Amino acid sequence: MCFQKNVKVAVCGASGGIGQPLALLLKQSPLVTKLSLYDIVHTPGVAADLSHIDSPAVTSGHNGPENLKDALSGMDVVIIPAGVPRKPGMTRDDLFNTNASIVRDLAEACAKYCPKALIGIISNPVNSTVPIASEVLKKAGTYDKRRIFGVTTLDVVRSNAFIAEAKKLDPRKVNVPVIGGHAGITIIPVISQATPSVSFEKNQLEALTLRIQDAGTEVVKAKAGSGSATLSMAYAGARFAFSLCKAINGESNVVECAYIASDITESPYFATPIKLGKDGVADNLGLGKLSSYEQDLVQAAIPELQKSIKKGEDFVNKSS
Ligand code: NAD
Ligand code: LMR
Repeated sequence: MCFQKNVKVAVCGASGGIGQPLALLLKQSPLVTKLSLYDIVHTPGVAADLSHIDSPAVTSGHNGPENLKDALSGMDVVIIPAGVPRKPGMTRDDLFNTNASIVRDLAEACAKYCPKALIGIISNPVNSTVPIASEVLKKAGTYDKRRIFGVTTLDVVRSNAFIAEAKKLDPRKVNVPVIGGHAGITIIPVISQATPSVSFEKNQLEALTLRIQDAGTEVVKAKAGSGSATLSMAYAGARFAFSLCKAINGESNVVECAYIASDITESPYFATPIKLGKDGVADNLGLGKLSSYEQDLVQAAIPELQKSIKKGEDFVNKSS
């Protein structure tokens, strides 16, 4: 079989707190041959700066909606961290009013200029923005459920870090699947499936689960009004983008958790571990064996996910 060895990646929201370090990490990688940076501000400067790094990715900057065609045409992967972040006291859903239309418009542009791209959405509320983008692509006639992902890799990265810390393990060797969605109780770390295998007393397990679910808020509070996680998100977003690139290049056994269209539970979108292929989702690896505690977490998450999904779908379908 002949697979491509060059992957063109676009970042939409490339001048932001996540966008800039994410672009830096992507620029460093030999997996990326073209790096297209789109934002409504500052992309010429960010692109000029990055283009002086002696790595292969040819970097270009594109400012404003009139340049979306140049930014997106021919892209294989589009990562979207465009939109406003939380301030203390806000929920991710409080960002809906601003970010829903940003994601809608970017999804419309993807449908037009790179309909076969694999799209990773970072913009919150992820539980709703992925359904928004999906409905837009359905309307445009370019929807392929294998190609659109809510990026939940930061939840995995955090779970790995916190469990490694608690058990004094090398964090690079820890892997914890995180399923469900990306907000509060919808974030479900499956600690019973962690590798290496770990065990905790009930109250310690509950405290760890809660910390993982609230980790975004922990950063929002610590940043005290200046935004939410950016550096750890850039790291996680780059990891996810590299996995997409590897899958496009024909590497086998590339597995990541992500929030995707799913029939694994009664929620039409649900994050689970996924085997990635050149067209995106190759195999949904499902829930695996859950403890009774984790099964209860799934049941609690489903109604909240359904509500956020409907809100996103209604935003697209009832406003046109
Ligand atoms: P930021 O404000 O620093 O950057 C956002 C960037 O988006 C800005 O450069 C802005 O100009 C740009 N932007 C706004 N409207 C745009 C449009 N129409 N097209 C293109 N770009 C546009 O915010 P940030 O800290 O980078 O966070 C971005 C988003 O990522 C937020 O919604 C945040 O909640 C979310 N986030 C998600 C996760 C996750 O795990 N999925 C983690 C952290 C943050
Ligand atoms: C995170 O988990 O850090 C992000 O979703 C940002 C946030 O608002 O918490």
